[in-house]
Amino acid sequence: MSGTDRAGNNLDPWYDLYADRTSGLSASEVRALFAVASRPEVVSLAGGMPYVSALPDSLIRSAFDTVMTERGDTALQYGSGQGVPALRENILAVMGEEGIRASVDDVVTTTGSQQAIDLVAKLFLDPGDVVLAEAPSYVGAIGVFRSYQARTVHVAMDDDGLIPEALREAITRERAAGRTIKFLYTVPNFHNPAGVTLSAARRSEVLEICQSSGVLVIEDNPYGLLYFDAPPPRPCGRSTTRVSCTSDPSRRRWRPASAWGGPSLRTRSARSSCWPPSRRSCPPAPSRSWS
Ligand SMILES: Cc1ncc(COP(=O)(O)O)c(C=O)c1O
Repeated sequence: MSGTDRAGNNLDPWYDLYADRTSGLSASEVRALFAVASRPEVVSLAGGMPYVSALPDSLIRSAFDTVMTERGDTALQYGSGQGVPALRENILAVMGEEGIRASVDDVVTTTGSQQAIDLVAKLFLDPGDVVLAEAPSYVGAIGVFRSYQARTVHVAMDDDGLIPEALREAITRERAAGRTIKFLYTVPNFHNPAGVTLSAARRSEVLEICQSSGVLVIEDNPYGLLYFDAPPPRPCGRSTTRVSCTSDPSRRRWRPASAWGGPSLRTRSARSSCWPPSRRSCPPAPSRSWS
């Protein structure tokens, strides 16, 4: 590739200055999708667009009112890297609904799953590293991994989710080729875009394979609490090799989410996310539940 056209005209004056990692970047599929979906004449079933008319407007308005009245100075100020403790406690309560017991210290607040994925990628990925992910997988995550110059290797799924045997084969194959696998990125509940849910039996198997191979599990769980008939199987319990990125689409107006991991991961996440000190902890969690 060159920064000049055939006649030698310089098309991009900064061509030689861009960081190497930008050479693999392509237009975001998510951005393209939302550009179409936001046209008033389009009813898009392609993206995870919340049905905003069903959101509790008056509760949201009164929660904002309460926050501004009671803690306006804090809400409009920069916050800590990890997020205000009150909000993290509320996030723990949401995680508790899926049976995850954690400490408020282990939670890092983010502005959505997407930021949590980016944070985790920034912490773990070096150029050339391999990320294992379901085939197909969430485009927004693949784009993040690409931006850190990692390679996503897809692992087959069926109606019960990720196929353990295919996971084992992928780990063996990539390692035999001399590549470093950093983590498995998985959406075990109501997978985007495949719609399947990882069965209970396979959850333990997938975790066992990853633990015995020293591969981290990054669980992206934006949809686990959204179901019509039965909840998805419970997560496989606490493990030091598991990171959970959670966001709650029904509360998207504030878009709180979190990354949860062991103490060392939490420290590094908070460090790597704490400058600039963000306002993602703002507004602080409302004092009463509004679900
Ligand atoms: C699997 C998955 N992860 C992450 C995200 C991004 O979530 P958030 O809006 O919380 O950043 C989405 C959004 O569609 C998604 O489908």
